[in-house]
Amino acid sequence: MKYTYYGQSCFGLEINGKHLLFDPFISDNPLAKHIDIHQIKADYIFVSHGHGDHVGDLVSIAKRTNATVVGAYEITEWCLQQGIQQVHPMNLGGQWQFPFGKVKFVTAVHSSVLPDGTYGGNPGGFILTTEEGNLYYSGDTALTMDMQLIPRWANLDVAILPVGDNFTMGADDAILAAGFIQCKKIIGVHYDTFGYIKIDHEQTIRKFSDAGLQLTLPTIGAEMIL
Ligand code: NI
Ligand code: MN
Repeated sequence: MKYTYYGQSCFGLEINGKHLLFDPFISDNPLAKHIDIHQIKADYIFVSHGHGDHVGDLVSIAKRTNATVVGAYEITEWCLQQGIQQVHPMNLGGQWQFPFGKVKFVTAVHSSVLPDGTYGGNPGGFILTTEEGNLYYSGDTALTMDMQLIPRWANLDVAILPVGDNFTMGADDAILAAGFIQCKKIIGVHYDTFGYIKIDHEQTIRKFSDAGLQLTLPTIGAEMIL
């Protein structure tokens, strides 16, 4: 599968010819000014929770692409009210077979409210089981014991975890999370965008390698094959 990083917790995946976009927040990200959001393709848009740094460009990209928005029921109801046509509501613990693979919506320990104050339901993360590999995107979350369940559901090839600390796990807890989920290949998200979450890249990558883990902090706009 192909991975493209768009900054903060926004990234695209191309799996079995389908374009999946996660947590679209680009145009208000000062680090992502060089990304042209009109060029981003999406058949599906996954939303982990309702905070502005995850949904900033959700409505505009969903309307332009006619993508199906996948997320907590409360968020997909809000999407319908915004005029988005295609949604797939989920709730924690549920899974669904999509054309590109199976998706399970799993616990995240965080909060969730949409920018206009609408209740966003529970925040979550996604486990994708596909022919091109298995991936876990935790969304914004604290380290949680629930992550120990994940190896029972999927043998992960890669996990996308926040490493910016303050609002989510930082590097030390993300390293513990990697142990819980039994995954050695980690892509970091949710760092550097604003003051509270600025990190030292070299030091963070070294912490992971000292723990026998590979952390990648991709350049915004860069593509990589996972
Ligand atoms: Ni958040
Ligand atoms: Mn966030």
